Amino acid sequence: MSTLNRRNWLGLVGAGSVASIIDPSLPNVSLGSKEVISTYDYAKLNSNENPLGPSPKVRQAIIDAFDYGCRYPSAQIRTLAQKIAAKEGVTSDHIVITGGSTEGLKAAGLTFGLNGGEIITSDPVYRSLNSYAEQVGAYINMVPLDENMQQDLGEMSKRITNRTSLVFLCNPHNPSGALVPKNDLREFCDQVSNKTILFSDEAYYDYITEEDYPSMVNMVKEGKNVVVSRTFSKVYGLAGLRIGYLIARPDLAERMRANVMARTNILAVFAALACYDDQKFYDNSIKLNDDGKKLIYATLNDLNLKYIPSHTNFVFFHTGRPIQQLNTDMRKKGVAVGRPFPPLLDWCRISTGHLNDVKKFNMALKEVMA
Ligand SMILES: Cc1ncc(COP(=O)(O)O)c(C=O)c1O
Repeated sequence: MSTLNRRNWLGLVGAGSVASIIDPSLPNVSLGSKEVISTYDYAKLNSNENPLGPSPKVRQAIIDAFDYGCRYPSAQIRTLAQKIAAKEGVTSDHIVITGGSTEGLKAAGLTFGLNGGEIITSDPVYRSLNSYAEQVGAYINMVPLDENMQQDLGEMSKRITNRTSLVFLCNPHNPSGALVPKNDLREFCDQVSNKTILFSDEAYYDYITEEDYPSMVNMVKEGKNVVVSRTFSKVYGLAGLRIGYLIARPDLAERMRANVMARTNILAVFAALACYDDQKFYDNSIKLNDDGKKLIYATLNDLNLKYIPSHTNFVFFHTGRPIQQLNTDMRKKGVAVGRPFPPLLDWCRISTGHLNDVKKFNMALKEVMA
């Protein structure tokens, strides 16, 4: 703020969009109107976000929370932990509130990866826990997905030794979008948790389309060696606010809580507290996602491109051509698709989003693949 004094700067901000003054590549977010809509000048379908959020009720809760900006968030974090605990059917000492579930994944990576621990994981997979554990000296034992893009539970289980400190299950899986078949899930989790820690990343749990699909929170309740992570980033649309949580037996929760570094902030906590009171928003988010996936499936069917039926807010499909090239070609047409997931370099992950953006993707893909 050397050449622009604070008053001038605020004047500028008042006249237009904050984000685009700071960085012209950021979305146009206009403040001051009731309906605040974050849109980019391209179809941003690369990060599995929910473009509807935060819901109107949550926005109001954030505004109301500003007065608490001068206070440390400990008391409100305790209140949120109690609310989550009540929803999950556990006591609040099972809950660790984190800055996005990423911070929970990192805390677990640190807790169980230190001192030469071994983490068994599928490959490719969402990498936060593994890459953090690797940085503190853990050995990451990667098991390729099977031919159906499922995590190879048999092989993951077979590789457990007395050196294994954690097995990372991502269910539903990122990037494939696949769900572990219900009948295989409990047996695998029992086997693993009898020998080591089972970590179940359930970031996309709300999007599961199979009825009565169990959460591994059930096993936490039974006192097993199981940790579950959840997030407010996806169905609740709070990705930018950074809030999520771990659920684990109190002794495990305490060990991981000691490794939570940033903790979240008070606005995010108030936002999360308001999320559960807005069922209509939740239902709309699920519906938008279903509608988006249907449009994507239709295009992939038209183009005869293989895809994995998705239990998430994205679809993983076989491009049959190098993903780097496809990313570049799609970007030129105003569509950002997911990053490469080696070794699956001829597959593409496309997130759902506003239906106009999904339609833009469909048109662009047809042109690029022509
Ligand atoms: C499987 C999985 N887990 C965790 C996360 C982290 O999300 P957040 O840190 O926003 O909770 C993501 C984000 O895309 C994800 O795909």
